[in-house]
Amino acid sequence: MQHTYIHEVVTRDGFQIEPQFVPTENKIELIDALSETGLAKIEVTSFVSPKAVPNLRDAETVMAGIKRSPSVKYVALIANPRGAERAIASRVDEVSLVVSVSETHNLANVRRTTDVSFEGFGEILKELRGSGIAVAGALSTAFGCPFEGGQPPGRVMQFVDRYVELGVDSVTLADTTGMAHPKQVLALCSEVRDRWPELELALHFHNTRGMGLANVLSGLASGVQHYEACLGGLGGCPFAPGATGNICTEDLVHMLECMGYKTGVDVDKLIGVSRRLGAIVDHDLPGQVVKAGKATELHPIPRNSQ
Ligand code: COA
Ligand code: ZN
Repeated sequence: MQHTYIHEVVTRDGFQIEPQFVPTENKIELIDALSETGLAKIEVTSFVSPKAVPNLRDAETVMAGIKRSPSVKYVALIANPRGAERAIASRVDEVSLVVSVSETHNLANVRRTTDVSFEGFGEILKELRGSGIAVAGALSTAFGCPFEGGQPPGRVMQFVDRYVELGVDSVTLADTTGMAHPKQVLALCSEVRDRWPELELALHFHNTRGMGLANVLSGLASGVQHYEACLGGLGGCPFAPGATGNICTEDLVHMLECMGYKTGVDVDKLIGVSRRLGAIVDHDLPGQVVKAGKATELHPIPRNSQ
């Protein structure tokens, strides 16, 4: 049975775009509960400008307040060397660097060209050397950009190559606004896996157009074992018009377990934490298994059909 690894992003991707600031103690409470569910990684927060992403202005306090499980890697997103300094001070297990494949989205998101982003990553890797902190390289808009449209696969390959040259530990292909479709995912992931068979590759899908879990199937078909997802299906990039939620973690784990993949995640516990998330954000969540129950949960036969 193939093993898959689930990376939870709710307190970063999920909360960065919430209309209301989620109180620090609620973030800590959710992360502590998620740490007990069997997830491989939890992306806790981002060390970016609090002016750019005010909802994550409490990054240091959240990192300091959580109880760390030795079986979980705690990750923070960073975009510049200043973010790396903050991540080192907070003793994260891993940083996730972010650059967009689309030049226009990179300018909108981090206000610099992709070349300048990569120059900064060189500095960041020097800063991190010897710290024991792992580095993931994320490529936003890898399957399409809301401003520019489709991105040439050759450009994505070049960007993966730049990350590999820098010496990152893994690469994440991100579909920032849910433009990817299953054939495209199969083609691109197969190309990346053929060229770098040893590279740890992760996929980050948004379900903006209902293709999120279908894209996971294509990822699995090309041999990808790492998937990012967001509890309740929250999430979205504040600098990408039309952004909506990530694929929902409990729906993803439920699907994988139905198909016989091992995730290591306790879906019942996850559903419990997702209910709590709904109460905290106080609005409906896009996730479906929380509403329908697991496929194995049967209903009593109606009296009139007996
Ligand atoms: N942590 C905290 N503050 C930071 C920071 C960091 N990592 N990087 C920059 N800042 C602060 C600066 O001190 C400055 O503050 P001031 O106005 O009080 O002097 C302000 O942010 C602007 O700094 P500057 O270096 O001029 O950055 P910029 O305006 O060119 O913006 C980024 C660049 C990367 C800092 C900003 O666009 C950003 O943080 N983007 C985050 C994008 C994101 O998280 N997107 C969602 C996830 S994909
Ligand atoms: Zn995202």
